[in-house]
Amino acid sequence: MATTKAPEDAYTAAPFVPEHADLAALREAAAGCRGCPLHRDATRTVFGAGDTDARVMLVGEQPGDQEDRRGRPFVGPAGKLLDRALAEAGIDPGGTYVTNAVKHFKFTRSAPGKRRIHKAPSLRETVACGPWLAAELRLVEPELIVVLGATAGKALLGSSFRVTEVRGTVLEEEIHGRQERLVPTVHPSSVLRADDREAAYRGLVSDLKVAARALM
Ligand code: URA
Repeated sequence: MATTKAPEDAYTAAPFVPEHADLAALREAAAGCRGCPLHRDATRTVFGAGDTDARVMLVGEQPGDQEDRRGRPFVGPAGKLLDRALAEAGIDPGGTYVTNAVKHFKFTRSAPGKRRIHKAPSLRETVACGPWLAAELRLVEPELIVVLGATAGKALLGSSFRVTEVRGTVLEEEIHGRQERLVPTVHPSSVLRADDREAAYRGLVSDLKVAARALM
């Protein structure tokens, strides 16, 4: 029997996002999000976490393998590197709110039962997840958003975003009806993959120092 499949551009989290909810209620609702197909293979929704009064919100791409298992963003190797870079730049990692553009882990396997390999979310999946990010921004009201890599940049600033063009600069843009200040930088995973890891790490710290100065 033929099955009907929703068109990809019909993907959206919007019907799952409760109105007038606080962050705890949002997190609970996000656990049941079926706004795109990524919930099918992921273990759980990984919602944002951290200081709800934070001056800085960090936005990554999507949870990785460890985040999917543990239910918190940036608890794996990229998160450890990010915390180190933040501290070195003068931003207390414990005082930030950390989230991702996409709240479910997308992956492939080289063979059944084999290791899960990160797969970048599509633009449609990223846009579908946007209502969660918009709700987090509305509730946390950060003074500054640190944009970690291309997926977060496209989610917040549109598909023409290029991290190499704007990294380490303070941008001012209207996002979801709010005037926001943003500092884009590379994703910490790209530092872990770089040939010259030390140079890539220094670049990340230097961009985060721009964010630290913008908060003074
Ligand atoms: N990479 C991300 O973008 N987010 C995480 O939470 C972990 C790794």
